[in-house]
Amino acid sequence: MPLTRRKLLAIAAGSTLLRRRAFGDPTPGLIVNSARPKDYEMTLAGFKEWITPAADFYVRNHHYTPDVNLADWNLRVDGVVNSPVTLTMNDLRQFPAVSHIAVLECAGNGRSFYEPHLPGMQWKQGGVANGKWTGARLRDVLQRAGGVRDSAKHVLFSGEDVPVGKQPKFQRTVEIAKALDPDTILAYQLNGEAIPLEHGMQLRLVVPGWAGDSWVKWVRHVEVLDHEFDGFWMKTAYRHPTHPVAPGTSVPPDQMVPVTDLPVKSVIATPAGGWAKPGRVKISGAAWSNGSPVTKVDVSTDNGASWRAATLGSDQSKYAWRLWELDWKAPAGEYKLMARATDAAGRVQPMVEDWNPSGYLWNVAAPRPVIISRLAPAAAASATPSSAAHPHGFQQACLTCHEEDIIRMQKLTAAQWEREVQKMTGWGADIKPEDREAVLDYLSANFKQ
Ligand code: HEC
Repeated sequence: MPLTRRKLLAIAAGSTLLRRRAFGDPTPGLIVNSARPKDYEMTLAGFKEWITPAADFYVRNHHYTPDVNLADWNLRVDGVVNSPVTLTMNDLRQFPAVSHIAVLECAGNGRSFYEPHLPGMQWKQGGVANGKWTGARLRDVLQRAGGVRDSAKHVLFSGEDVPVGKQPKFQRTVEIAKALDPDTILAYQLNGEAIPLEHGMQLRLVVPGWAGDSWVKWVRHVEVLDHEFDGFWMKTAYRHPTHPVAPGTSVPPDQMVPVTDLPVKSVIATPAGGWAKPGRVKISGAAWSNGSPVTKVDVSTDNGASWRAATLGSDQSKYAWRLWELDWKAPAGEYKLMARATDAAGRVQPMVEDWNPSGYLWNVAAPRPVIISRLAPAAAASATPSSAAHPHGFQQACLTCHEEDIIRMQKLTAAQWEREVQKMTGWGADIKPEDREAVLDYLSANFKQ
């Protein structure tokens, strides 16, 4: 039977769908911040569930996703251990399996809220998820390598991800005390299934209570060091000042320390979209900390003038997030909602941002505007993307390793753009001297603070 035009169209549509939902592609529960390398953010709807389905987990990649060859996969464990070993996945499964339900949050989650704005992936609330991680204790694995020698100070984890251009390889260290903590695991499962490729298949370091930068994906090599590691991702990136600095200050990396613990934080997930009908409105969300249990979440509907305690969800686990909710009899009007979490260690979410030069660990109890009205307000016009034509040389210099999405989300000064272009040139951007000024003008004019 000859194919009708209609059938052909249906087949074409079907195959597009199949292609669009191929392995590793974002689900509707994710917002694409960068298509290449993959950086996907969870939507606010994700804060309704205690355990985040793997498909809705945010993705944070500095590099391109590797091809992981399962057939000849193994893990090398060496450095200052007594007898270096190479282990197969089967060997790893022989260790006692340990599971933690733990929050994984990108250190840069909330970066887009910092003012003055900072370069980097512009995460809003969704660079975070809560999953069940299962694997072998790192200390059991190190014990199999004869145990660490007395000189051991740090453990270095190298991922298989593929650096883009001249980007330094993604390698991070964890100090020996945290590495030997019985809760630190080399996980091979997320939510009871093999860890999906985007999340680090076959093996991901799980450092519960710490920010995601330490949760190295695609681990193939564990090396125990008797010294501090000098790599870019330890010495330049993922550092923050130990003391408050004035917004906009530039702080040399040697006056900062690596990001480790997550701060106490809450997110308001509903009412979604900044609007609800008058009457009974459920204000709800999730709250978490560094492994110290969240003991209360206070909610304000009047921009912080008065507070009421929310009801905490019954699901709880040391490193997991806690869901919370509060019923509000909402009269028509315009409000500013706030949520402020406290943990058992007495840490409380701050009301004012503690600005830091790379925009890490945002946890401010920030006001969230909401309109209570019978009719939904007209949708605000979304920001129109710049329609300015690309200057000569821009495509070749800037859109080879990634798309323009990474660039469009930035709001930077001319000086910050100058530094970004410098950084990208270091990573291999081929910007011709004669095109440089026009490219910088284009960036500073279209994507500014
Ligand atoms: C050699 C590859 C390469 C080229 C060419 C390149 N970039 Fe990038 N750029 C990257 C990678 C990789 C990232 C993601 C870094 C990360 O996630 O840590 C990135 C990230 C960015 C970011 C986000 C902020 C940051 O520093 O992570 C901006 C802005 C950016 N690039 C701008 C540009 C501009 C403008 C150009 C052209 C002058 C350019 N890039 C050319 C590789 C490149």
